[in-house]
Amino acid sequence: MRINELATPCYVIDEGRLTDNLKILNGVMQRTGAKILLAQKAFSAFCEYHLIGRYLSGTTASGLYEARLAHEEMGKENHVFCPAFLPEEMDELVEICDHIVFNSVSQYLCHLPKIQAAKSKKKMPISAGLRINPECSTQEGHEIYDPCGAGSRLGITRAELDRAIANGLDLSQIDGFHFHTLCEQNSDDLEKTLDAVEAKFGDLLYNLKWLNMGGGHHITRADYDIAKLEECITHMQEKYDLEIYLEPGEAVALNAGYLETTVLDIVQNGDVKILILDTSAACHMPDVLEMPYRPPLKNSGEAGEKKYTYRLSSCTCLAGDVIGDYSFDREIQIGDRLTFCDMAIYSMVKNNTFNGMPLPDIAVMDADGECRVIRRFGYEDFKCRLS
Ligand SMILES: Cc1ncc(COP(=O)(O)O)c(C=O)c1O
Repeated sequence: MRINELATPCYVIDEGRLTDNLKILNGVMQRTGAKILLAQKAFSAFCEYHLIGRYLSGTTASGLYEARLAHEEMGKENHVFCPAFLPEEMDELVEICDHIVFNSVSQYLCHLPKIQAAKSKKKMPISAGLRINPECSTQEGHEIYDPCGAGSRLGITRAELDRAIANGLDLSQIDGFHFHTLCEQNSDDLEKTLDAVEAKFGDLLYNLKWLNMGGGHHITRADYDIAKLEECITHMQEKYDLEIYLEPGEAVALNAGYLETTVLDIVQNGDVKILILDTSAACHMPDVLEMPYRPPLKNSGEAGEKKYTYRLSSCTCLAGDVIGDYSFDREIQIGDRLTFCDMAIYSMVKNNTFNGMPLPDIAVMDADGECRVIRRFGYEDFKCRLS
């Protein structure tokens, strides 16, 4: 089946592009010896985990469910970080995870007995880490994604760590530090962040086994400076004798998916022509409203750039459920299909059924452009989450 034959709405994972990204990431691993993990929060379509596992070292999870998914479906290195774990979650996490990263000293101390018990019985030792906050903001314009913003709950500041050390904290059971401060950024911002990490935490890095440099590295973007990334990695490996981890989400599946939609109606308000689509920003691409951003759309231009401009919106009741204004060379008709690009990341994982909107199907497109539907959703998927 070709992409234009799929029933809509439908996410389409482009395996050719996914593979291209994985080869770029694997190249970084080969040249530097660093380990790269898939951040499942961005992309958890586990039908592709066999492919991803061929190129990457494993996965990272935001909590028990993602960790369990990775354990069941990939079975490679399994890391987890969460601002707070429940005691009953820790019982399972110590069985299935290799690295468990804590966001606070109190969380670490709370779960340390279970880590120690698991260490003594597991063949492969489980590794505990702390998330540090280097207090170095390099993001502009979207504070919601900045873990280094004032008053952030994410990561331990040096002052807090020093306070805990002064109160008797023993760091000898900590194998590594983790930081995550970037979002869609280039390696010059990683370099700045590492300067801050070294300035604030450098004295402690000598005693550790690993450093996880989080996600937000846009490694598979055309203008990403991979050479600088590799210099950063090598510098930290050589100076502190650390194993280096990166855990990008976006970069793994960047530009490796589409959302196929159909125009259901066209309404007019004054000069504005509005397309009602069978998809929704609020339900199927919430980052469009949250971030906000304008998803690329095939064969379209900016508003006014081409002859016919339309506002693309949805069937929900939310007045602001608008994807954006786009222009086309031809007039759009009811029943036409439109293809949003870069729809593999932070889309399927963020779906919801507000207003009872149907969830888009999920299809996979192979390197020859042949598509197969791997999951179809219906009314039961809406109903089963409500009671
Ligand atoms: C701790 C952590 N690791 C990795 C990631 C993945 O980031 P990205 O998808 O931007 O590469 C995130 C994203 O929020 C994160 O919070």
